[in-house]
Amino acid sequence: MKKPELSNLRKNYNSGELNESNLTNDPFKLFEIWFNEALLNDKQEANAMVLSTVSENQSPSSRFVLLKDYSEKGFVFFTNYNSKKGKEIEGNKYVALLFFWPSLERQVRIEGTIKKTSAKVSDEYFYSRPVESQASAIISKQSTVINNYNNLVIKKQQILNSNFLKRPRNWGGYIVTPILFEFWQGRINRLHDRIQYKVKKSKCWKPERLSP
Ligand SMILES: Cc1cc2nc3c(=O)[nH]c(=O)nc-3n(C[C@H](O)[C@H](O)[C@H](O)COP(=O)(O)O)c2cc1C
Repeated sequence: MKKPELSNLRKNYNSGELNESNLTNDPFKLFEIWFNEALLNDKQEANAMVLSTVSENQSPSSRFVLLKDYSEKGFVFFTNYNSKKGKEIEGNKYVALLFFWPSLERQVRIEGTIKKTSAKVSDEYFYSRPVESQASAIISKQSTVINNYNNLVIKKQQILNSNFLKRPRNWGGYIVTPILFEFWQGRINRLHDRIQYKVKKSKCWKPERLSP
């Protein structure tokens, strides 16, 4: 098979710019503007974000999760607390989130600390999901090795037949409280815009331009 010429694979970014004149001091507001634009333009799961965690022996791992809520309090997603990510979070509360919206040529990085949402938040979301998804969450021991796929299908059907669809205690939400944001807008000839916001002691945010 012929290897693709990756060294020639490059896209010029020219669809926007991020300049100081239209920056707010509030990164959550800028996130909201960009996220709404991504929902309109990036039809493919604009709420997909990469979550990176670090294990107790300092080894990082990343995976996509879906953003299900956000506010000044933080960014919320749902998962299995006993999964690989859940175990890593248990040992290290520092995580990173990453959004990429290709049609807008934009990336947003968020670094922060993570904790579980309340049981009420987890319940509300769990029971808002289609029953098939609830059943899958109940029977999946996420991130463990299994022998075959068929057993999953059988177990899921058994749970559906039993009508006992209760949120397992090991399934629920996490909320990431940001301590750093970086907004990246692709620009022509690789002179990209990068604006970083760090939280200061006074709890104020300050935008700073980073070299591309
Ligand atoms: C677009 C996309 C969205 C996903 N959203 C979630 C999610 O919201 N929650 C979740 O537990 N897994 C989600 N997954 C699956 C995870 O990427 C991952 O396979 C799973 O959570 C197990 O990760 P872990 O073994 O690192 O804990 C998603 C995968 C993709 C590709």
